[in-house]
Amino acid sequence: MRETAARPAAAAGSAATIPSAGALSAQPIPAPRDRLDVDRIRADFPILRQRVRGKPLVYLDNAATSQKPQVVIDAVTHYYAAENANIHRGVHFLSEQATRAYDGVREKVARFVNAASSREIIFTKGTTEGINLVAQSYARPRLKPGDDIVITAMEHHSNIVPWQIVCEQTGATLKAVPISDAGELDLDAFERLLTSRTKLIAVVHVSNALGTINPIKNLVALAHARGIPVLVDGAQAVPHLRVDVQDLDCDFFAFSGHKLFAPTGIGVLYGRESLLESMPPYQGGGDMIATVTLHQSTWAPLPAKFEAGTPMIAQVMGLGAALRYLEDLGLERIGEWERELLAYASSRVSSIQGVRLIGTARDKASVLGFVMEGIHPHDIGTILDDEGIAIRAGHHCAQPVMERFGVPATARASFSFYNTFAEIDVLADALLNVKKMFA
Ligand SMILES: Cc1ncc(COP(=O)(O)O)c(C=O)c1O
Repeated sequence: MRETAARPAAAAGSAATIPSAGALSAQPIPAPRDRLDVDRIRADFPILRQRVRGKPLVYLDNAATSQKPQVVIDAVTHYYAAENANIHRGVHFLSEQATRAYDGVREKVARFVNAASSREIIFTKGTTEGINLVAQSYARPRLKPGDDIVITAMEHHSNIVPWQIVCEQTGATLKAVPISDAGELDLDAFERLLTSRTKLIAVVHVSNALGTINPIKNLVALAHARGIPVLVDGAQAVPHLRVDVQDLDCDFFAFSGHKLFAPTGIGVLYGRESLLESMPPYQGGGDMIATVTLHQSTWAPLPAKFEAGTPMIAQVMGLGAALRYLEDLGLERIGEWERELLAYASSRVSSIQGVRLIGTARDKASVLGFVMEGIHPHDIGTILDDEGIAIRAGHHCAQPVMERFGVPATARASFSFYNTFAEIDVLADALLNVKKMFA
C-alpha cells in the first residue's frame, strides 16, 4: 500500500469524494491521461527506495529540501567526469564546452520564469543570498533615516534578517503586514502601511510555515501604483506553481535550486534589468569586471557584474537537468496532484482529535502545519521518525509566525509530486499512534 501512488478507497473515484478540509476545496480530477504516473516518477528518485529504521522512507519534508531525480545526479556526475573546467576563462575545448552549458542553463532559467532577458538572471547560492544581494546592493545605497521597508508577518528569517541589517546600517525602519488567524495577509493593513517613505516591499510568495499563497500580482499592482518596487521570496513557490515574473510584474524574485529538485548551493535572483543596471556590484573579484587597474575597476555587463569568482558550475548543470525534468512532467499536472494530496492530508490529519492546523488560508500550497494538544512537535517528529516518516518539527525559521499563532513550534508535513495518498495514510495512522502513546 505505502509503495504505490494509488488513492485510498475513500478518496478514489470522483472529485466529490476527495475530502476537503476547512477552506480547502477539492479540485476536479483531470482525465487519467493528463495525470502524473507517480509510481513511475518515484522510480526516478533513488533515495525514495530507501528503508529508514527498517521501514520504507516516507519523505514529507519537501519544504526543507526536495529529493533529486537520477537525471540531476547524473548531470552533476557527468560534468565532473567528462566536462570539468572553469568557465568564461579558458580557450580550450573543455572550458568552451562548460561555458556553453553554463550559459545555456541561464537561458533555460529565463524561460522557466519568463524573464524578458537572461541578463536578468543572476546565479546565487540560494534564496538567502539573493535577498541579501538586493538588501545590500539595491536598498542600502537608497535608504536614509525615516524611510521604510515593508515585509509581512509570515516571512522566513531569510526575508527578515537582511532587512533588519540594512535598516540598522541606514537608519530606516522595518514594518510588517499582519496576518489573520487563517494565515492570510491583511490587505487593508498592507495598503495602510504603504507611504511615500516606503522604499521597498519584500514579501513571500508561498509561506513555508503556513502554506499560504500570497496574491503577489495584486500586491505588486498596489505597490507599483505608489512607485514602490517589490521583491518576492519565491523559495516555496517555484516547486509548486508556474511563475511568470513578467505577469507578476515583480522587480526581484529569489529562489533556491535545492527546493526545486536541483543540487544545494545554487539559486537564482531574477531582477528587472533597469534596476540591476542601476545597482553596484554585491561582491568584487574575478569575472565581474571589465577592466582593473591598481587604482580602480570597471564592471562587466549583466549578469556577470553580480557573479564574482568561480561560480557553482556543477550545481548549475544540475539545475538545468532539474528544470528539464520539471518541464517534462508539467508544472500544471504537478500542481493538480499536490492539491489533491493537500486536501486529503488536511482532511485526514485535522480529523484527529486534538489536532489544530496552523495555516488554513483559502489559497494554499502543499504545506501542512499542525500542533497536537499536549504533545510537543519534537516528540511527534521523533516518534514519526521511528516509523520511517520524515517531517519537520520546530519554528521553520519563521519565529514571528510561531509567535503570531501562540505556539513555540509546529509539526509540518510538506508534499511533493512524488508523494502518494498511501503515504498520507501512513502519516495519519502514525499520528493516531502518537496520540495513543500520550493518552
Ligand atoms: C520561504 C523561504 N524563504 C527563504 C528560504 C531560504 O532558502 P535557502 O536556505 O535555500 O537560501 C526558505 C528555506 O526554507 C524558505 O522556505
